[in-house]
Amino acid sequence: MNEVLNAIEKRSSTRSYTGEPITGDELDALIRAGLQAPTATNRQELHITVANSGNPILAEIEAEKNRGFGTENPPANFYYDAPTVLFISAETAFSWSKVDAGISVENIAVAAEGLGLGSVIIGCVKNALCGDKKAYFDKALKIPEGYDFEIAIAVGHKAAEKIPHAYDADRAMSLR
Ligand SMILES: Cc1cc2nc3c(=O)[nH]c(=O)nc-3n(C[C@H](O)[C@H](O)[C@H](O)COP(=O)(O)O)c2cc1C
Repeated sequence: MNEVLNAIEKRSSTRSYTGEPITGDELDALIRAGLQAPTATNRQELHITVANSGNPILAEIEAEKNRGFGTENPPANFYYDAPTVLFISAETAFSWSKVDAGISVENIAVAAEGLGLGSVIIGCVKNALCGDKKAYFDKALKIPEGYDFEIAIAVGHKAAEKIPHAYDADRAMSLR
């Protein structure tokens, strides 16, 4: 099967990772995939911040997320102990920012699958990163002025294989 279609079909969210880090070349390829994504009017406004699992900012984000959700001992942290997390931010005032960030994060997810890596898209930290402590987290994550965090993605080596989710083909309408 075509490699791109195969990666799209095989991708599913990975919520369990081995301890093996991803390589610099793999990270470069994922960042390229994210930044090569199309953006409305070719604005290319997206920024990507990379944090590795040892970085204390991840525990701070986890604590703030749990403060908001009132969950003190969730079964896993928000990035499932993946070795690397990519945070995508976009211009607050640009009306297509959320769509652009979504396209970018899926490019990264499909690229990760193509490289034999697992990934999971992470939205659950949105309130934590855009709430009372936005200025603090923006600075810590090097999110530029006038930007908001939009979406994150954790990547690493899958600890187990998973069957991709099924879908209802009736959701496709044809006017032919
Ligand atoms: C915008 C968005 C936000 C998501 N946020 C989270 C999240 O915070 N935590 C999580 O475990 N999964 C998150 N997911 C993953 C979805 O739960 C997952 O894609 C969905 O259940 C379908 O499963 P699959 O990815 O294995 O096909 C998110 C997915 C999307 C598209």
